[in-house]
Amino acid sequence: MDYKNILLDINEHIALVTLNRADKLNALNHETLVELKEVFERLKSDENVFVIIITGSGEKAFVAGADISEINKLNMLEGKVFAEFGQEVFSFIEKFDKPVIAAVNGFALGGGCELALSCHLRLASENAKFGQPEVNLGIIPGYGGTQRLARLINSGRAMEMILTADLIDANEALRIGLVNKVFPQIDLMSKAFEMAAKIASKGQQAIRLAVKSVKTVDEVSLQEGLNFEATHFALSCGTEDFKEGTQAFLEKRKPNFINK
Ligand code: COA
Repeated sequence: MDYKNILLDINEHIALVTLNRADKLNALNHETLVELKEVFERLKSDENVFVIIITGSGEKAFVAGADISEINKLNMLEGKVFAEFGQEVFSFIEKFDKPVIAAVNGFALGGGCELALSCHLRLASENAKFGQPEVNLGIIPGYGGTQRLARLINSGRAMEMILTADLIDANEALRIGLVNKVFPQIDLMSKAFEMAAKIASKGQQAIRLAVKSVKTVDEVSLQEGLNFEATHFALSCGTEDFKEGTQAFLEKRKPNFINK
């Protein structure tokens, strides 16, 4: 299936999702958000896909935000629907049990920063810039920025980024824990694929249970999280890959995972 604003390429268990409106710095209009949801629904049911990478087309932007030409027309009620739909799409990505890596190749502003925040891992090119500049437009972040940014870094730094609308560069993003790694732009995609391939080489039942377990940290108390972890650990003990992984270690050979 083809999409108007998104390129989807699946190879060797890795899906590459490219936001493809480079002339608008990959700004997320409604049509693109709808397509993004469709793409992720498709990837969820595709058993051949183990890991997803999201990036933006061109060398300038990951995503420069929600499309301001659409925001400009919103009234109050439409604003609520607008924010809730973006939140729904980004929560779907965040709750994906297959790992999602954001390869941030330039501006990640507003909805672009919020999209990166909803991914499980964030890699950035040296020219990447992150920010929540919504107050410059007289609005606030609406696709989860006030919540996910405060949880990922801390509320003080999130407050500073949101209230000043200042952009931060990739090295500052690395320093404050907003991204996992920074690479020269020319290496970004090969490094993202390298990480995705490493994850894809593991037993995928364990990978998915690990993603679900770590993601509970934002939603539950420590004790509830530990309960989830014990349950997910028990589930991993019921897999074929658990038998294979432990047996391979004892036999001093590489495991041959079958993802069951
Ligand atoms: N929504 C709609 N269109 C956008 C956009 C957005 N969020 N961000 C960029 N564009 C469009 C521009 O309007 C321009 O379109 P045009 O060529 O038809 O005029 C095109 O993308 C290129 O952007 P431009 O502003 O000319 O590039 P620049 O290099 O001068 O500046 C930015 C880059 C990212 C600093 C600037 O585009 C910007 O500030 N964008 C908005 C960021 C923002 O506020 N995001 C949060 C939205 S809630």
